[in-house]
Amino acid sequence: MAHSSSSPSTVAVRSGPLVGSIRVPGDKSISHRALMLGALAIGRTDISGLLEGEDVLATAAALNALGASVMRLGDGRWAVDGIGVGGLAEPEDLLDLGNSGTGARLLLGMLATHPITAFLTGDASLRRRPMGRVVEPLSRIGARFVAREGSRLPLVVSGAAQPVPISYRLPVPSAQVKSAVMLAGLNTPGVMSVIEPQPTRDHTERMLRHFGARVTVEIAEEGQGRRIAVEGLPELTAAPVVVPGDPSSAAFPLVAALIVAGSDVTIEGVGINPLRTGLLECLHEMGADISLLNERDEGGEPVADIRARSGTLTGADIPADRSPRMIDEYPVLAVAAACARGRTVMRGLAELRVKESDRLAAIAAGLASCGVRVAVEGDDLVVDGADNHPAGDALIEARLDHRIAMAFLVLGLATNRPVRIDDAAPIASSFPGFIELMNGLGAAIAEDG
Ligand code: S3P
Repeated sequence: MAHSSSSPSTVAVRSGPLVGSIRVPGDKSISHRALMLGALAIGRTDISGLLEGEDVLATAAALNALGASVMRLGDGRWAVDGIGVGGLAEPEDLLDLGNSGTGARLLLGMLATHPITAFLTGDASLRRRPMGRVVEPLSRIGARFVAREGSRLPLVVSGAAQPVPISYRLPVPSAQVKSAVMLAGLNTPGVMSVIEPQPTRDHTERMLRHFGARVTVEIAEEGQGRRIAVEGLPELTAAPVVVPGDPSSAAFPLVAALIVAGSDVTIEGVGINPLRTGLLECLHEMGADISLLNERDEGGEPVADIRARSGTLTGADIPADRSPRMIDEYPVLAVAAACARGRTVMRGLAELRVKESDRLAAIAAGLASCGVRVAVEGDDLVVDGADNHPAGDALIEARLDHRIAMAFLVLGLATNRPVRIDDAAPIASSFPGFIELMNGLGAAIAEDG
């Protein structure tokens, strides 16, 4: 999964109107969970619309190494023959999760309550990211870990033979940590619960129910947040999964359509789970012309077609408590802010420092090199919009971060001079075909030798 450092740079130049209807690849969060729960279910789970990005392919390979049988049947169509809760077998070799924090952390949750030993690693980006946030609760359940300094990968996990259920209050609003504890709860007798002070994406809860587990959600006794509880030792039954388009991927053509004059783009079949739609709220407050069409329910998740037309955006003050509902969208929101009129303040972004890269630093450095006035004040990001077109004329370091790479290619479609990124390879982790799809709408993004 390592990305080559000798990849050619990629350049985006100011583009004419973007026009057309597209679909974006399947939701990354839902794709990981469909494979994982399929592996722990009895029977065959059929999945359509699976994201065939490197992150999800790494999870599929890991599950095969753990004894499940994950097969590709055709474009986005996959089948998983599950081995049942408690059925994971010890892998013979290292599990390499590539660039994927979700893959690594959720898998650690599953492994924590299987009495086997596994060795996990990932690419240079993932090996820098903190695993302590899952190691800590999973240790309380009874798993044992040996990790590098700072609980980083590579690490070894030996799952508990006699796991104990815990009630865990999330110290950071993280769906990955919540999900790791819930997945550990599946092979634990009793009730495992997680208290989340701020709601985070609930795809694990939805999909566990879809596979027949008992999951309850109630207001936490302390009056703050919600308590999510999963009953242990369920018999998960294979169930078909239809994966909606990823709103975090749709965000890139969406913002591109807003900032490139004359654009009119519709993105079909995008997930609009309310715990993922913070970006749409921000863009609405900034005056964007966005409409949701054909709202419907597909496979337990709300879905819509999203139409975006270009227009003038105005700066906005984005509250910190919205961040869990748009945590992956700040790079591209910052791009919209750079093209807006006036100041945008994005508050409470500490979690951005531990994503695929330090995104707070990467956004600030990238915008500054494109001639945008930007500041990091504590955990807040302040962007002074260029009102029309930022200067551009920059080479951006993608830092093994797909969303930094895509965000700055989108910015380059609206800048006066081209924007280059040093390495577009990481885009394949979440959005294979991104450049072709954007160019199909009329964008001008090309390899630059
Ligand atoms: C994800 C949760 C988020 C998000 C990531 C996917 C998930 O991470 O950034 O891209 O699938 O649960 P955190 O839970 O660490 O905030």
